[in-house]
Amino acid sequence: PEFWAVIPAAGVGARMRADRPKQYLRLGERTVLEHTLNCFLGHPTLKGLVVCLSEDDPYWPGLACAGDPRIARAAGGCERADSVLNGLLHLLSLGAHVDDWVLVHDAARPNLCRDDLNLLLGELAEDAVGGLLAVPARDTLKRAGKDGRVRETIDRSVIWQAYTPQMFRLGQLHRSLADALVSRATITDEASALEWAGHAPRLIEGRADNIKITRPEDLEWLRERWASRE
Ligand code: C5P
Repeated sequence: PEFWAVIPAAGVGARMRADRPKQYLRLGERTVLEHTLNCFLGHPTLKGLVVCLSEDDPYWPGLACAGDPRIARAAGGCERADSVLNGLLHLLSLGAHVDDWVLVHDAARPNLCRDDLNLLLGELAEDAVGGLLAVPARDTLKRAGKDGRVRETIDRSVIWQAYTPQMFRLGQLHRSLADALVSRATITDEASALEWAGHAPRLIEGRADNIKITRPEDLEWLRERWASRE
């Protein structure tokens, strides 16, 4: 089987309170999205890459990589899962096989390192289901009531934070995601679609610094790291 990547990049990033979606904010010399795409573009194992973009996205054409023939474009959807589904359909239209692997990675995670990507590819290549990069919970975890008071402390030894890339078979992911969306299940990542379909994705421990930029301080934190790198 071949390996493909889908990068959903059609979000608006409202929690960043910026003048443009977070994937188009600068991180060092380039935008967040360009760094994310570069993690995958240079990889020898990957056959192709699809980026999911809003139909009225005015920023993409200005990127240096916009005309790169290795990058295919698909339309974004209302929710992340809709964008990913469009990306998978595009892969099928490019001739990808249902048994091929697809890695779905958030555009807003530009700090994925090559070692983690290789770890995921290596650990899951023979797996029956697939899985995802994830990080074990570090802090003590509380379940809150609506009043903002602690109801209980949760056993953190079984809790993980789901990161990306998430790697599944194209056919199985497409079916699970499409069925889950039709059933209006809450799907916030690819693994939750597979879980909904009765599968148990494998957790592969990755680096905690593969963060998803969500709030302004996340980007500040990455900018400091980039400044010492460039
Ligand atoms: O909003 P959130 O941080 O969860 O988004 C995760 C990723 O999914 C981002 O890269 C974002 O651009 C993408 N996304 C998308 N289509 C949407 C919503 C989010 O491609 N409708």
